[in-house]
Amino acid sequence: MNQLIDSFGRIHTYLRISVTDRCNLRCTYCMPAEGIALKRKDEILTYEEIYRIAKAFVEMGINKIRLTGGEPLVRKDLEVLVEKLKSLPGLDVLAMTTNAVLLKDKVSILKKLGLNALNISIDSLQKERFKEITLRDDLDNVLEAIDMAVKANFDSLKLNVVIIAHKNDNEILDFIEFVKNKSINVRFIEYMPFKDNQWDASSVYSYAQMKKIIETGYQLAPLPINKGDVAKDFQLVNYPATVSFITSMTDSFCSSCNRLRLMADGSIKSCLFYAPEMNLRDELRSGISDHELKQLFLSVVKQKPEAHPPMEELAKLDNRAMVEIGG
Ligand code: 5AD
Ligand code: SF4
Repeated sequence: MNQLIDSFGRIHTYLRISVTDRCNLRCTYCMPAEGIALKRKDEILTYEEIYRIAKAFVEMGINKIRLTGGEPLVRKDLEVLVEKLKSLPGLDVLAMTTNAVLLKDKVSILKKLGLNALNISIDSLQKERFKEITLRDDLDNVLEAIDMAVKANFDSLKLNVVIIAHKNDNEILDFIEFVKNKSINVRFIEYMPFKDNQWDASSVYSYAQMKKIIETGYQLAPLPINKGDVAKDFQLVNYPATVSFITSMTDSFCSSCNRLRLMADGSIKSCLFYAPEMNLRDELRSGISDHELKQLFLSVVKQKPEAHPPMEELAKLDNRAMVEIGG
């Protein structure tokens, strides 16, 4: 009865929580050049508030939570939140997406506290280009952290690589080379339009193009599709690594979407591409009951759109910048 089922019958089991709108990188495809208006500390949910929301969600059928940002590791004492969330009965997977700049010092504690899965965003293996994309000189830090993450043996370790035409499209095979002998899933992501992120249709490098390049040197064997999975997954034949594609632009996956998003300021979004339906923070601070909170979740889920508009129109929507949403 309490299940998070939308008007189109989609059951929601996956919650993404953005813990901060701040980031220590400045990826040009993610943030407007002039930056974003950062929230004041009192506008951001406390760990207690996040925990209360997460607990209510897990009681309604959420079984996977991913922490995102901005960059989640720039928020102080993130491990405190990880430990609290891990204690929720019914939560099967706790994951995090990070740019790994601050990961080195945290890998072992995160693993020890039970973080199950780690996605690391990295769009270039070349020092100069990494700097050009992120406006920071942190590639060495990130590579070192990836090494440590491989050794830590998480249940799942993925690299997220956004491919932009004429920017890093010539590194696809380098990424394959980099991961092929490791237990890593490398995911190539089609470039998506967000508010002021310099996107245009000619900068999209499609799944079909990426796959074709890889198949000039390697064999890709399709893996079974998991429910709610947004990626097309392949085994890199004769290697431990797997390769996936996130085809948001050329083949969207709205019909199997099982995710909801809680932003750092307490707003909640049922779709990546639309404005938040409501903000829970003030309600929470004015003392609503758990029952009322759950009713609010249900009303958000009921408003979830069936699908997002076609890609040409997405660029024109007044959406928040990716850095605020956390992917
Ligand atoms: N298109 C595709 N992916 C993006 N990300 C950030 N901005 C974009 C975009 N415009 C990715 C990041 C990170 C994840 C959270 O979202 O690289 O891996
Ligand atoms: Fe930061 Fe990730 Fe956005 Fe880059 S993509 S600016 S690392 S939030």
